[in-house]
Amino acid sequence: MIVPIKQIISKAKQGKYAVGSFNTSNLEITLAIVRAAVKMKSPVIIQTSSSAIKYSNLETLFAIMTTVANTIGKKVPIAIHLDHGKEMQVVKDCINIGYNSVHMDASEKDYATNVKLSRQAAQLAHKKKIWVQAELGSILGKEGMVKLETGEINMKDLLTDPYQAKEFVAKTKVDTLAVAVGTIHGSFKGIERVDQVLLKKIVNLVSIPIVLHGGSGLSAATFKKAIKNGVSVINIDTNLRLAFKKALKGSIKDSEDLIDPRKILNPSTEAMQREVEKMIKIFGSYNKA
Ligand code: G3H
Ligand code: ZN
Repeated sequence: MIVPIKQIISKAKQGKYAVGSFNTSNLEITLAIVRAAVKMKSPVIIQTSSSAIKYSNLETLFAIMTTVANTIGKKVPIAIHLDHGKEMQVVKDCINIGYNSVHMDASEKDYATNVKLSRQAAQLAHKKKIWVQAELGSILGKEGMVKLETGEINMKDLLTDPYQAKEFVAKTKVDTLAVAVGTIHGSFKGIERVDQVLLKKIVNLVSIPIVLHGGSGLSAATFKKAIKNGVSVINIDTNLRLAFKKALKGSIKDSEDLIDPRKILNPSTEAMQREVEKMIKIFGSYNKA
């Protein structure tokens, strides 16, 4: 059932576990996330990027998420979040339609502009009693990885400064903070890691819940350590995409005469559900609904 996100994240922070925030762009992924949450009796956050919104249309995607959450997921707490909203317009659209939380991601802008836009988003969202996530530091993606490998950029220069984070939160009044502590968007097993010392320092200085982006590709031990060090929300996208594709390849190969899209897609939905269940177990949010 859809609940205010505060209810989910504050409980996680207090209980020293993390809640998974999983990306969706369609019905099948949403079903997988919600079914996993129900099976594991876990709270969960369903999030959509701006490109997912473009793909499925905001009204449609919002209707899918809320309907699945309030029917199949009626016994578990679920919140809907905008992930990496880089434009104020998409932030406003999601606030207006009824999201429980929005991510104003102005991390690529200079510090003063990031403060200004994050504060503006917080003011707008708080009028509707919803939460805002802001981001400080640079969390790289695939292109960034190439620059890292060629030495064009250095991971150290991209990480969140703990003292700046403290000041940033005080100035913006945001509710959660996405930090750059070494993770990368995408799955780069063995390459991406979490600077646990830095993470702990940020958590000690910043009182609001901390969000770890780029979760895919990290080991269970790294997740557990990050949670011990105070992370309250963990974002996962690529792990579900990988599970979807692997199962899809299998279902097409196994029965080439299959033409019913539901039968073709069902193994993928089940595989994504298993992946979400696995994450929920590692994050410690099972039986916390
Ligand atoms: O905002 C989305 C997440 O940070 C997902 O990252 O694809 O590495 O799991 P991931
Ligand atoms: Zn992210």
